[in-house]
Amino acid sequence: MSEVTAVAGEQIDIDQRYALACRIAREAGRRAMSMWRKRDTLTIEHKGLQDVVSVADREVEQLVRAAVSEAFPGDAFLGEETASEVGEGIAHERVVWVVDPIDGTSCFLNGMHAWCVSIGVLIDGEPAIGAVYDPNSDELFHAARGRGAWVNAARMRASDARSVRDGVLGVGFSHRVKTDAFVPFLERLLTQGGMFVRNGSGALMIAYVAAGRLIGYYEPHINSWDCLAGLVLVREAGGTVNDFLAERGLLRGNPVIAASEGFYSDLVGLIEGTTRAG
Ligand code: IPD
Ligand code: CA
Ligand code: CA
Repeated sequence: MSEVTAVAGEQIDIDQRYALACRIAREAGRRAMSMWRKRDTLTIEHKGLQDVVSVADREVEQLVRAAVSEAFPGDAFLGEETASEVGEGIAHERVVWVVDPIDGTSCFLNGMHAWCVSIGVLIDGEPAIGAVYDPNSDELFHAARGRGAWVNAARMRASDARSVRDGVLGVGFSHRVKTDAFVPFLERLLTQGGMFVRNGSGALMIAYVAAGRLIGYYEPHINSWDCLAGLVLVREAGGTVNDFLAERGLLRGNPVIAASEGFYSDLVGLIEGTTRAG
């Protein structure tokens, strides 16, 4: 049976949107994959230091946006490639689709495999739906509030790690942050016997936390389109996440911390005192 929320009048159907998010993530991933195969023909633009984009990102975002607006014309849309056109008022919309058409663009354009399509949906201010599709492995990581977390048809559970030594931590870093707000954290992590991986796609690594492949993920500043879907995945997989949306995180971004329930507080302890957004 479909769950609907009716906080302010109109009823919001979560299940219909969940189904659309999953369908469109796969479709967008297939379109992106066809462009990845001819990536040598794509013109690369530089948005900032180590921050690239191509027509593939824009086309895939347009595909997702068109599908959402056809099915749910009243829903708001926040996509990475058009985020600069969006005003602060979007945070007060009842339903907001938060989309990164290609997360891991640097990998995508350089012929590597760590990239994905990330579609999150915020309903009444709460992350409610997440769909992250990796076309290279044909894995769709998906979840909706109260419905568990899944990779394709298999249930996902976050790992049972309790300490930094119990597995590998995903980390992310971008030049939006000063290096001295991140390097001390890495030093602490390694000194305490931990290990890290950075594959170039924050969305995919957060999905791996939900799947129990990584014990956690930390990045000192990430944008909402990189992580909103992942926050739903991790929560529904039994993991713990920080209050990412605090202090206008939807439009400004924030640190993101996601981990197995038993490791989360140790991870927060490791981070404390080592970071500040640059
Ligand atoms: C980036 C990736 C990267 C993360 C950055 C993001 P993009 O997104 O997720 O892993 O560290 O914060 O900006 O540019 O590949 O879409
Ligand atoms: Ca991204
Ligand atoms: Ca992107």
